[in-house]
Amino acid sequence: MLQSRYLLSGLGLSLMIATLPAHAAGLSSEHKAFGKTNDGTPVEQYILRNSHGLQATVITYGATLQSLKVPDKNGKAEDIVLGFDDVQGYQAGTAYFGATIGRYGNRLAGGAFKLDGKSYQVPKNDGPNSLHGGTQGFDKHVWKAQPSKGKDSVGVTLTYLSKDGEMGFPGNMKTEVTYSLTENNELRIEYKASTDKPTVLNLTNHSYFNLAGAGNGDVLQQLATLHASHYTPIDGTLIPTGELAPVAGTPMDFTHPTAIGKNIKADHPQLKFAEPKQGGFDFNWALDAKGDVSQLAADVSDPQSGRRLQLYTSEPGVQFYTSNFLDGTVKGKAGKVYSHWGAFTLETQHYPDSPNQANFPSTRLDPGKTYTQHTVFKFSAQ
Ligand code: BGC
Repeated sequence: MLQSRYLLSGLGLSLMIATLPAHAAGLSSEHKAFGKTNDGTPVEQYILRNSHGLQATVITYGATLQSLKVPDKNGKAEDIVLGFDDVQGYQAGTAYFGATIGRYGNRLAGGAFKLDGKSYQVPKNDGPNSLHGGTQGFDKHVWKAQPSKGKDSVGVTLTYLSKDGEMGFPGNMKTEVTYSLTENNELRIEYKASTDKPTVLNLTNHSYFNLAGAGNGDVLQQLATLHASHYTPIDGTLIPTGELAPVAGTPMDFTHPTAIGKNIKADHPQLKFAEPKQGGFDFNWALDAKGDVSQLAADVSDPQSGRRLQLYTSEPGVQFYTSNFLDGTVKGKAGKVYSHWGAFTLETQHYPDSPNQANFPSTRLDPGKTYTQHTVFKFSAQ
């Protein structure tokens, strides 16, 4: 309406463009082949772009964010997420670069949980525990995809049916993940799921960010703020003790902008649990926003490049993990080596091991209900 009125009134082109909806102004998307899995299943890539130079590529293998190009303070775009150039990298990979994680993100103690008195067992793939949904989680499947469009965004919606009993979880669970890119430089990830039997779930995205560019050294000088006054301490197998402990006075205090490397080597038992040799962060922070997606949950910036990431989420927790298990042996995109502490993750989630922890928010999903999760990564450069 507005546009045609301006057209008819003969106003200049610049005014016309300023009043156009954002997607008409500069958002675009395309999709094409990315390759094939070892058994010949085609994998596609969806490339989303905005007019400020942001570009996100999502592949159907693992509903994975494969690349994210973000301009620095001089306008130079660089890919800031770790990953691989081909499907085989993702198939062989064990670090979950950029993947959608399910059915249960993070750890389940002993790979076990009970629901309505019945015991369930998920394959153990992390010492005595299961991690990120067991030996073949959502990250190791090819998802269906179709382009999507919001009123101010372009995107891709991916779907996956996790069958009753898959990796030990009950219920056929339909999962939908939508990635969208806006003209406000936001990458939004929205999740939906439903089931035909009671089940548990904890979906997240496992992107590894390095605001200086993937493979460009470590992230120790990047400044992180986590709006969380508590975290969930862990035992030696990284299972929460059940306690919600204050961060005040510990290296887990990121309530003010703090260099990631400042306390990473501190002599603190929790840091040794996370990374026994040199220390590292790998904890669930209980966000003060408590699932209010309009409140800032985390903020990380790189003084060098000027890139800044702000996180908003409907989830109560975030796993801030400093790539403690990368050891410089993984070669990623463009042959770059990913070093120890070469990235950080912000995995928005319910708390780890919730099905076995009576005082944590519930991760149960019942038939007839819809699970939703909404996470926003907003980028800027100063
Ligand atoms: C976990 C780490 C784990 C990593 C796997 C993170 O979510 O918290 O302990 O090593 O995923 O890449």
